[in-house]
Formats: sequence, structure tokens, C-alpha cells
Amino acid sequence: MIFESHAHYDDEEFDADREELLTSLAGHGIGLVINVGASMAGSEATVRLTEQYPFLYGAVGVHPSEAAKLDEEKLERLRVLCGCEKIVAVGEMGLDYHYPEPAVSLQKEWFERQLTLAREVKLPVIIHSREAAKDTLDIMQVNHAEEIGGVVHCYSYTKEMAREYLNMDYYFGIGGVITFKNAKKLKEAVEYIPLDKILLETDSPYLSPEPHRGERNSSLNLPYVAEAVAELKGISYEEVIEATERNAKRLFGLQV
Ligand code: NI
Repeated sequence: MIFESHAHYDDEEFDADREELLTSLAGHGIGLVINVGASMAGSEATVRLTEQYPFLYGAVGVHPSEAAKLDEEKLERLRVLCGCEKIVAVGEMGLDYHYPEPAVSLQKEWFERQLTLAREVKLPVIIHSREAAKDTLDIMQVNHAEEIGGVVHCYSYTKEMAREYLNMDYYFGIGGVITFKNAKKLKEAVEYIPLDKILLETDSPYLSPEPHRGERNSSLNLPYVAEAVAELKGISYEEVIEATERNAKRLFGLQV
């Protein structure tokens, strides 16, 4: 079964057909889903979704673009949510320099605080890093992220950077971007990254793969991602599905 390691089914894009879509996934070979919180409201909604759907597990955390809204009280609330039965990771968290806001210093502070939270609650992390390769790596190294474990979601950097994350024993979330014609750098990285460190993800509702680029994304598009990985690695589609499922279960501690 396909393991979806990163989706946002709490997003309002799914308000009209969430139930119908989620209940259809198993029939399309999608076995397990990690729903990832990107805000406080998204983290609360993630916990509710885990209670509703047996095949859905969750991560709670706050995306760097929401970092300015965090405070001590909210961090304590995240800590409580981490204790919920089907919460298996802390995130997404990290750095995003694509937009000028929020300030870099704020993003860094709450990235570090969430890394510390993950260490304390003994859960792996889901890292978001966009146009912030060096600072992300620096913070992870200073905070000994290799002792925490986790995945760099929607990996978009070079193979040289991938080596740094491999040194910390991290996983790499590979999504729809791998199907884009202009994704040369990412394709080189995926050729380089060992199969046992790759997870499949969509980041739904964002980043739909070819041939559905620009449309709302869902886990139903994961076969396009798996096909692209299989082609780059010169292995079968089934091998990719099996390995990435095993990898995700290992990372998130799921024995189901
Ligand atoms: Ni995401």
C-alpha cells in the first residue's frame, strides 16, 4: 500500500468533499496518511482527523510562515497535542525565506523551540525548508537534530546538501515537483539519495504532479510521484511503493 507521508486534509480546499475523498483512498491503494499541522488551528484539526479515520495519523506543529503567531501558551498547547494517541511527529517546522515575513529571527527562534519540543516528547520532526538551505542545516546541527530524527519534507535542494542530511540520518520527502520537466537538480538528488531514505508525499492541496500541475492535489496523485522515482532509480514501481512504506513506518514508529 502507498504511504502518504505529508498532506493537509484539514485545509479548506477539502471542505466540500473531505469525507468522500478520504474514504475513497483505500480503494486506490493509499494505505496510511500522515496529516501535517501547519498552524495551531491546523494542528487541532489534525488531531480531530486522526480520531475520525483509522488510517490517518498526524503531526502537530507550526509552519515558519505562521511563526509570528506563536507564544509560550501555544507552545504548551502543542506539547499537550503531542501526547494524543495518533500523533507521531512534530511539524511542520523550519525556515521559509521565500517571503520577507515573518522576520528571520522569529522563524529561527520558533524552529529551535519546536526542535526542543520534539526532543522532549521523543517524536521525530517534519522539516519545512525553502530558500533557506544553509540556515536550516546550521540550526539542525547546533541543536543535534540527528538525535531527534525526522524528514526534510518536499526536499528541493542539491545532492550535496542531501549528503549533509544523510549524515544526520534524515529522510527525504519527495513529492510532485519530481515530475516537473525543470526539476533537474531535484532529480539528481533523488538519484543520489538511497532508496531506504525516501518517503512519498504530496503536500496536498499543493504541488500537484504532472499531468495535473496547477490543480488541487490529493494522495490519489501519489502514483505519478512513485513512477518518477522508479524511473530515476531504475527499479519497479512496486519496489518504490514497498520501500517507501517501510521507510515511513520505521520513521513514524508504526507497526500497523
Ligand atoms: Ni506541508
